[in-house]
Amino acid sequence: MIGVFDSGLGGLSVLAAIADALPRADLVYLADTAHVPYGNKHDDFIRGRVLAIGRQLVAEGCTTIVVACNTATAAAVQALRAELRGVPVVGVEPGVKPAAHGSRTRRIAVLATESTARSERLGRLIREHADGVRVFVEACPGWATRVETLNLDGADFDAEVRAKLEPLLAQGADRLVLGCTHYSFLKPALAAACAGRAELVDVAEAVARQVVRTAGEAAQGTARLTLLATARPERLHAALPRLGLRRLAERAAAARQALV
Ligand code: DGL
Repeated sequence: MIGVFDSGLGGLSVLAAIADALPRADLVYLADTAHVPYGNKHDDFIRGRVLAIGRQLVAEGCTTIVVACNTATAAAVQALRAELRGVPVVGVEPGVKPAAHGSRTRRIAVLATESTARSERLGRLIREHADGVRVFVEACPGWATRVETLNLDGADFDAEVRAKLEPLLAQGADRLVLGCTHYSFLKPALAAACAGRAELVDVAEAVARQVVRTAGEAAQGTARLTLLATARPERLHAALPRLGLRRLAERAAAARQALV
């Protein structure tokens, strides 16, 4: 069984890619909705949550863990690996490497939470994979909360996105890295603001490929999908169709029916 977690709904973008890549795997998704967002919290707090959730997922029988959150990965993936010795832990990091390789202008931007934007881990990623490329790092406070409240569009948000992206595009950024898993669900608004001037870089499918390589026995199962949340778990099921996750919704419904 594979355990996937995030602060809230954002990691569902990664879960959907894993479910497509591993149609038979038993999957557990845990949303830490009692503590979302993580992006404006201190590293110590995030680390405490990540360790507690990792231990819980292992206690429930998960033998591979996916940290479907850039913020949690930056703050705590090393601590989690040390804690869960022997259990493979796959993290999510902003797609700086593919963006830098694909950029024609040699200018890219990373959109992320405040916590990820200031993290040492992102700094290292940029130093290692974007040599000679100008990287603009933009914190986007409030965007993850928009996704949590399923407030994915609207004129006010379109204006906010344009105000955020316009200076980056004006400086020639031709790749915009979605450095927070929540932002996958903001792609329509982001793409509209780009108007073809930049490509969005999402690593969800690359993470799923890494899970396929890592999972081993954990990839075998009966396609069960369990959705858990630390607050208002019923919202998770309701959110799937709103987020366009039809196949995940079907898999979750089938799993629920099997329990009846
Ligand atoms: N989805 C998370 C990420 O990838 C964090 C969003 C938040 O809780 O602030 O960074």
